[in-house]
Order: sequence, then structure tokens, then C-alpha cells
Amino acid sequence: MAKPIKTTEQTEVSEAQIAVHWKEEAYYQPSEKFKGQANLRDPHVFDRFGLDKFPDCFREYADMLTWFEPYHTVLDTSDAPFWKWFAGGKINASYNCVDRQLVKYRNKSAFIFVPEPEAERDVVITYQELYDRVNEVAALLRGVGLKAGDRVTCHMPMVPELPITMLACARLGVIHSQVFGGFSGQACGSRIQDSGSRVLITMDSYWRNGTLVDHKANADIAVRAANELGQDVDKVLVWQRYPGKYSAKTPMVSGRDFFVNDLLKEHTGKKVEPVALPSEAPLFLMYSSGTTGKPKGAQHGIAGYLCYVTATSKWILDIHPEDVYWCMADIGWITGHSYIVYGPLANAATSVLYEGVPTFPDAGRPWRISERLGVNIFHTAPTAIRMLRKLGPQEPRKYQYHFKSMTTVGEPIEPEAWRWYYDEVGKREAVITDTWWMTETGGFLGTTVPAIHAMKPGSCGPAAPGIHPVIYDETGAEVPKGSGKAGNMCIRNPWPGIMQTIWGDRDRYVKTYFAKYNKNPRSKDWRDWPFLCGDGAVQAADGYYRILGRIDDVINVAGHRLGTKEIESACLTVPEIAEAAVVPVQDELKGRVPEVYVALKPGVPPSQAVIDRVVKANEEVIGKIARPKHVYIVPDMPKTRSGKIMRRVLAAISNRRDVGDVTTLANPDVVEQIRVMVQGKDTQATQEALPEDIAKFGQIE
Ligand code: WTA
Repeated sequence: MAKPIKTTEQTEVSEAQIAVHWKEEAYYQPSEKFKGQANLRDPHVFDRFGLDKFPDCFREYADMLTWFEPYHTVLDTSDAPFWKWFAGGKINASYNCVDRQLVKYRNKSAFIFVPEPEAERDVVITYQELYDRVNEVAALLRGVGLKAGDRVTCHMPMVPELPITMLACARLGVIHSQVFGGFSGQACGSRIQDSGSRVLITMDSYWRNGTLVDHKANADIAVRAANELGQDVDKVLVWQRYPGKYSAKTPMVSGRDFFVNDLLKEHTGKKVEPVALPSEAPLFLMYSSGTTGKPKGAQHGIAGYLCYVTATSKWILDIHPEDVYWCMADIGWITGHSYIVYGPLANAATSVLYEGVPTFPDAGRPWRISERLGVNIFHTAPTAIRMLRKLGPQEPRKYQYHFKSMTTVGEPIEPEAWRWYYDEVGKREAVITDTWWMTETGGFLGTTVPAIHAMKPGSCGPAAPGIHPVIYDETGAEVPKGSGKAGNMCIRNPWPGIMQTIWGDRDRYVKTYFAKYNKNPRSKDWRDWPFLCGDGAVQAADGYYRILGRIDDVINVAGHRLGTKEIESACLTVPEIAEAAVVPVQDELKGRVPEVYVALKPGVPPSQAVIDRVVKANEEVIGKIARPKHVYIVPDMPKTRSGKIMRRVLAAISNRRDVGDVTTLANPDVVEQIRVMVQGKDTQATQEALPEDIAKFGQIE
């Protein structure tokens, strides 16, 4: 067994090389029709983007953008591993997504907004209208004193005002930090504080599953939470879901809160020149969970990020200006930033923006929308696929739409769900790309190029052009393909879409993503800095990767990353709780869900009320997505003799598995008590192996 390597931020993992057995799936081939029209069909692209051509190969990506001033250096490594892409250039993301499309596509739809209530009409926004509205909002933001380098936090739902606000920020060089609308006010507040935003932009309300949610209430909580952490918010700018009408019950705070629509009256028809910004100026922050309780602000720079999402939208999503593209992700996550806003717009796409829940009011909704609007590229996550399959396995047949290409993102997809997606949703006409990547990487890493590679259900494929993955074991040795062994997925080389740093925390950036496999911290050579992605993976003999899930203490719930430490800290805000431990549990629809074990302070009797308080604390501190599947009050946590909680044992119990040998624990008896509480007295644990991410969860504590 490999010797444990002490990693700095990652938990220690004692063994990465675990034999992984899974059935090899048959290949599916793209149709000739698809291949004939695809943007990228030249297999020599992989020669052009070979490691021997790095980094100059990425000039091809930079050429897809319009520059105010050319760059002089493709990749500046002088401050490794803080990469500077296209150094010396001047550019603006808003200009590239909006202004430059006016020449050819002025009257073409940029967005078709579909409200959740089915009786409400679509709102079509042409590139000309997008240009006008982005300019007016930019004038407004400039008017409230915002300038390049300032941070603004947005906490907005899926409405066109969100990309408009982001593009207005980008026009000025203001760094936007959009917090997922479903996160709580408190979660938003801590992100406001971390980013140092003095302005919060929100919306009064939005539709979710048939309810008009009072979202303004969250803004008040967020401002208070930020203030308690030491960050004052001067202004809260409130969009109205129905312009001119206030749809929330929470009162506006005089002098602090302003309706955007009121302020915009002063800026009607105004134009704001897009600021020529350095290539490496930050474009946005996107907070994401990691091993510690504090989410990290992944900072993405303008030129590298924008060219990466532009090129991958064109080559992998295969967006042509005449296509109708629909990505159901939320703009509050990286997928929405990269593949609803920046990538598609830079390609002059027509894109559907849907406000609500995919299964509202029934599981036919996505297919009705696709039929009505002529959607031909469809992009979603395995959780939505599983849900739509469960609720309406034959619904797609009822609608006359035709997809040419489909994407899945965010979680591993089981071959069975993949096949339903292919057969029923794609009607065996559409290619599927299973795109593996993460917040930190800006865009796709592991994927097929749909006109070049065959598809293999359950595997993301090889890698995007210019991405050179490697799987390392714990000792830093390469795990060869076809060995049937798993290890830590890394990328050998930097690429333009990679994050620049963690906002305000350079050390954490180096420790989290590079320290494990970097041998010379002073090296300026990119070859010395493989990027540790945070996932376990196996590579089959054909070169395809199968992603096994997170190797850190992150639970991927329905494609949303939640840090177990964040959930545990939320539980500990309940005064009765002495200790909390969170473990991932397999779930038929959501992939993984958190289950919580709590031990109460002495003298506190167990009660449903305490359980309810724990659930509520998670909703308040993080958001409804962090709601635990179960909360168990235990007499004591299973512990090692040195007093550490054995989460691994709890994870085995929650997942109905054998707990293994627990005789070395300080309190082995408690394990059986907990097992009976969770599984019932007579339940037989299944002998089936645990999925990799759960098996390794909390392995050494
Ligand atoms: C997981 C979402 C398997 C993975 C874009 C990663 C996937 C985390 C896939 C990042 C996929 C994403 N197959 N697993 N196709 N795509 N993941 O930052 O564990 O929200 O590390 O970015 O999602 O989640 P994030």
C-alpha cells in the first residue's frame, strides 16, 4: 500500500490506487449528418494542440476574439503557477459578446427568455436590444461610482437581467460575483464579505415550482450577515421581476435599496464605451466549496477564460449562429457563466433562458419548449435527466423536436441514464458529449469532440484539444491507461480557461491545486506544476476517462458542490448540538445527498424539534440544496482513540454497507447502536462495493 502523503488542504488519502472494475460499454458513433455540419471535424486538431505545440497552439483560441490591442506573450509563467495568458493584450468581454455581433446579427435573438408560468409570454432579446440594455445598465453602474477592479455581488435568479448585469459589469471591468439564487441570504452575505463588494444586485422575486418567491428578503439577510463580518454594503440594486411593479413583501430600505428600473430612467439611450482592459484583468469570481468550511472565490481573467469558453462552445457544443441552443443549468453556477452567457454569446448564439424547474408543471415541459422554439442543441445535468426519466420516460416521444447535439455535465452519468438520454431524448439522432470539468477550470476538460470521437456511456471521453490529463497515484507515479486502477486526475499543462487564483488567498490556491505534485515550488516551468483537479478517475485502454467523483470532502448533490465542513458548521450553529458529522449517501435521483449525524450537549434530550432546527440551520446558512436527507441524533460519535470522528464508519452505515473492523475504535459499541438506529435491527448490509468517492470519504481522520 502506498504511503500516505500529507497534503495541505486536501484530506489525507491513504491509497489512490484502488482496483476499479466496470463493464466496458459499447461505443456509439456520431451520424454522418452531424459530422457533415460540425464546426470541428479535422482530426489533426490533436496534432495542432499536442504538448509539443504548447502554449502557442492556443493562439488559435485567441484569434476567435476581437482585440483592442494584440498580446505579446501567449503564456507568461514568470509568477508560476499564477499563469498570465495573452499578456500585453487589451480586450473587453462585453464587446466580444455583444458589440461585435451587431454587424451581422443585429436583429437575431440573443436570448429567448421562457418564464416558468406557462401562460406567460416568452421575451425575445435581440443582439441590438442586448446592446442597448447592457449599455444602459453599464451607465447606471458607472453612475453609482463603480469602476474597473471593483467587485459587485449579484444574487439573481434565471432571468435575462442577470446576463445583462454581468455584461454591464464586464463592460466597465467591474468584477462580478454571482451567487447562486438558491443560496440563502447568509451564504450570500459571507461571499459579499469575502469579495469586498459594496453593491449587491438582486431581484425582488422569481418563479420557482409554481411559487413567486420573495427573494428580496434574502438581500436584507445578506447585507446584515456581511455587515456582521465587517463588510458594509452601501447599495442594494433591486430588479423587478415585473418591471414597474414590486412583487416582494419585504420593504425597501430607504437610502440603501433602489429599484433598477427607477434608476435606469436617467440612463435611457446612453452608451458606454467598453473599457480596453488588460488580458489578465479579472472578469468574475465564482465561489465554490472545498475541503474547509470557507468557500473559495475562483477568480477568472478576461482573455484566457473568454477565448476558452468561446472555442469550446464552438467546437464541443457545436454552436453555429443559426442554431437554437438551450442550456438548463443555472447562471449562478460555472456552467451558466461559461455556457449560457460568455461562450454562446461570443459565438452569436440564440439561446433559451428558462426561469424555472424542468419538471414544472410536468415532465413534458422541456420537450414542449424545445418543440415550440426549435431548440436543436440541448445541455443539462444527469440529475435533471434522471428526474425527467423517472417522471416522464415517454414524454419526449410526444413532441416534434430534433436535437443534433446534447451535453451532460456536473456529475458522473450512469450508462442506463445515458442510454435513455440517447434513445428517448435524443431520439437516436443526437450526439452526446459528457463534459467533465469544474468551476476552477473555466470550461470543458474531459470530453469527446463530437464529430471526431465515438461516444461511450459513462465515460467523459479523452480530453478537449490542448488538455493533457494524467492520473497520478499517491506517490506521484503515473497510473497507466488500461491498468484498471484509479488515481488522482491532474492536467499536465495550464490552459487558457484555468482560474487565476483564489480571490485574496494565493497560498490556498497553490496548496489546493498544485502542492501535492509540485516538486520545486520555485520553478517557473509549467511542466513542474500539474493541476490537481480534485477528482478520482480511471483511464481505459482506449484512452477514455471515467470520473469517479471528488477526492476531497465535497459532496456533489445534484451537480452542486457542497463542502461537508460547511454543512457541519451550519449544524453547529444550533445551540443544542455538541458534534456534527456529515456523510454522502447514494441517491437515485440526485447522485449524492448529505446525511447528518449529531451528538447533543450533555443534558439535552433528543427530540424532533432539535432535528428540525438542524435542517433549518442548513437551509439558512447554506440554502435548501443543503437540506440533509436524514438527521440522526446519536448517543456518541464513533471515534478513534485520539478522539477523531470516524466519518468513514458513518458513511458505511448510511450507505447500508458493512462497517468493517471497528474494534480499534475508542467506543466500538456505539457503532452497532447507530447501525440499528439507521438500518434497523435485521438489515443485512449489501456486499456491493461502495462507489469510489464514498469509499474514500474521510478515509483517514
Ligand atoms: C463533477 C461543474 C463526472 C466532478 C462544471 C467535478 C463531473 C465537479 C462531470 C465540479 C462529468 C463535473 N462527469 N463528474 N461530466 N462534470 N463533475 O465546480 O466531481 O460545480 O470535480 O463544476 O463536478 O463541480 P463544479
